[in-house]
Order: sequence, then structure tokens, then C-alpha cells
Amino acid sequence: MIVPENRIYSIMVAISENGVIALQSGELPFNIEADKKYYLGVIENKIWIQARKSFENGPKSELRTKHNIILTNNTDYKPGLANSSTVHSIEGALKLASQLTENDEEIFIGGGMNLYSQALSFVDRLYMTRVHQSYIDGGAFFPAFDWKLWKQVKSQFHKNSQGPNFSIEIYQRKK
Ligand SMILES: NC(=O)c1ccc[n+]([C@@H]2O[C@H](COP(=O)([O-])OP(=O)(O)OC[C@H]3O[C@@H](n4cnc5c(N)ncnc54)[C@H](OP(=O)(O)O)[C@@H]3O)[C@@H](O)[C@H]2O)c1
Repeated sequence: MIVPENRIYSIMVAISENGVIALQSGELPFNIEADKKYYLGVIENKIWIQARKSFENGPKSELRTKHNIILTNNTDYKPGLANSSTVHSIEGALKLASQLTENDEEIFIGGGMNLYSQALSFVDRLYMTRVHQSYIDGGAFFPAFDWKLWKQVKSQFHKNSQGPNFSIEIYQRKK
């Protein structure tokens, strides 16, 4: 895969204790308003790359991103959102993201499972919200990866009166 240089690539994900990112129904297992606010703020004015199901299940109308890039095999797909483009390969997504950014700009990858698997080989940062609960009916999981390659640069525990507690963590790839 050709990954354009001089950009910062970051994964944004919320995962349960047992690695679940979505239920078998495709819905998110958790609905944590504070985390949604957090990640929508982080990706504001940034390029946001998502696969089609993740895009459709996400908070489309609340996105304040610079541009949304949606991966689909459907050449007629219409995202129905301004500042959005469709692409048909990960390389196509990265190429477009590179064209829309300048050196050292951060580009975010927001799932799903297959996209995370491929992006883990090249991303520089992981923005990971750890939801302190397990779910038995997981349908999509964050891929296993080698923690030794990553250095934690942020960890902030949040008590949540309306659902599971969670921690906002950021990891940087070790040089
Ligand atoms: N917890 C979290 O942080 C988090 C983050 C993101 C998503 N999610 C959840 O995860 C759920 C399921 O995700 P998922 O992994 O099953 O599905 P997904 O990856 O979001 O979407 C799969 C679809 O994306 C398109 N696609 C993916 N890779 C492609 C490629 N290389 N080239 C062209 N098209 C490509 C295809 O769309 P077409 O069928 O249109 O061809 C494919 O059917 C989402 O619904 C969402 O609720 C959770």
C-alpha cells in the first residue's frame, strides 16, 4: 500500500474491555455522550476517513470535519453530506486525504474493523477510548495489535453516571 508521506495518520476508536467496537446488529454497544463530544472535537476541521457502514452509523449531521472520505464499492453511492467524497480503495482514500491536506496535518481513520486492521500497519497515533465494560454479542472487534510498539501519552479516567466508565487514551508509535 502506498501511504503518502509527511502526514500524521491517526486512528480514532472506542473499544470495550473485550475489544468490541460494534454489536452483531451493527449498532454501537455504548452510547457515551461525553466521548462523542470529545472525538467530534478532536476531528473538527480534520480529514475523516470511514468505511461505509461506520459512516452511516455515525453522527453524520454533527460532523464539523474539513472533509469526509467514505469507502464503498458502490460507484453510485451518495453520502448525502456536504464536504464528502466516496472512494473505492484505501489507497484512493489516502491519496485524496493527502491532496486535501498540507505537510504535518493530521488525518483521522474512523473504522470499521477492516479499515482499522489495514491502518494499524502505518498509523502514527491511536486515539482510543476504553469503555470499562465487556459485551458478549460483539459483531466487530478492534484488531489485536502489538502494544510494545506503542507508547501511551495520555490516559484520563472518566466516571460516567449514565453508563459505563471510560478512559480516554492516546498512544504514539515508538520511533
Ligand atoms: N466503536 C467505535 O469506535 C467504532 C468506530 C467505527 C465503527 N464502529 C461500528 O462498527 C460497525 C461495523 O463496522 P464494520 O467493520 O462491520 O463495517 P465498515 O468497515 O464500517 O463498513 C464496511 C463497508 O465499507 C466498505 N469498504 C470497506 N473497505 C473497503 C475498501 N477497501 N474498498 C471499498 N469499500 C470498502 C464496503 O461498503 P459497501 O458495502 O458499500 O461496498 C463495506 O461493506 C459500524 O456500523 C459502527 O457502528 C464502531
